[in-house]
Amino acid sequence: MSLKVSVFIATSLDGFIAREDGSLDWLDEANKLVPQGEDAGYQAFFDSIDVLVMGRNSYEKVLSFGQWPYADKRVIVLSRKVLKIPDNISETVSHSSESPSELYSRLDSEGGKHLYIDGGNTIQRFLSDCLVDQMIITTVPFVIGSGIPLFRKTEKDVRLQLVSSKAYEFGFVQSCYVVVK
Ligand SMILES: NC(=O)c1ccc[n+]([C@@H]2O[C@H](COP(=O)([O-])OP(=O)(O)OC[C@H]3O[C@@H](n4cnc5c(N)ncnc54)[C@H](OP(=O)(O)O)[C@@H]3O)[C@@H](O)[C@H]2O)c1
Repeated sequence: MSLKVSVFIATSLDGFIAREDGSLDWLDEANKLVPQGEDAGYQAFFDSIDVLVMGRNSYEKVLSFGQWPYADKRVIVLSRKVLKIPDNISETVSHSSESPSELYSRLDSEGGKHLYIDGGNTIQRFLSDCLVDQMIITTVPFVIGSGIPLFRKTEKDVRLQLVSSKAYEFGFVQSCYVVVK
């Protein structure tokens, strides 16, 4: 199998990806620290993936922004419920209720090369099934006290190896890990 699976996500210093109600106001505030033209490697990463897999909660959050940010990139939304996909994105966005391993196998057999997994619950499910190869985690200098955590209860430990870590002068720290399998 040659499909690579990556996570690229921002967390608060205390490990949350959103407030309990899903809001990202703290991340918007943190992004004000970022100089214009700096994206901490996001676009290069995004250009390297062929499919973005996200959970329904993340999908609904992105839809609420009003403008779909993923252009013509293929996006698969995981949900066990009926999913509404607006007409303007229906050519690139699809719905699946497959398990992480079923989805991985299907995309691998279709010739997929690099998956981007997004959403806390969804990342956890792929991690639990030992399907994540790389995690790029950008920590922003905010403590928000509670929220939706990046990491949750695991059945077994996940071992990672730090590949690189970069401290930006505006206070973000980005660490790239590979998952030891
Ligand atoms: N800080 C960042 O960089 C960052 C990045 C991404 C997202 N976020 C934030 O994180 C929040 C979302 O994270 P999240 O942990 O709540 O959830 P999520 O992973 O985005 O979505 C979870 C959903 O996935 C679906 N799901 C779960 N198990 C499934 C299964 N077995 N089969 C099919 N679908 C399944 C469920 O949808 P159904 O209930 O419909 O079945 C579940 O509610 C949002 O607020 C988003 O803005 C932050």
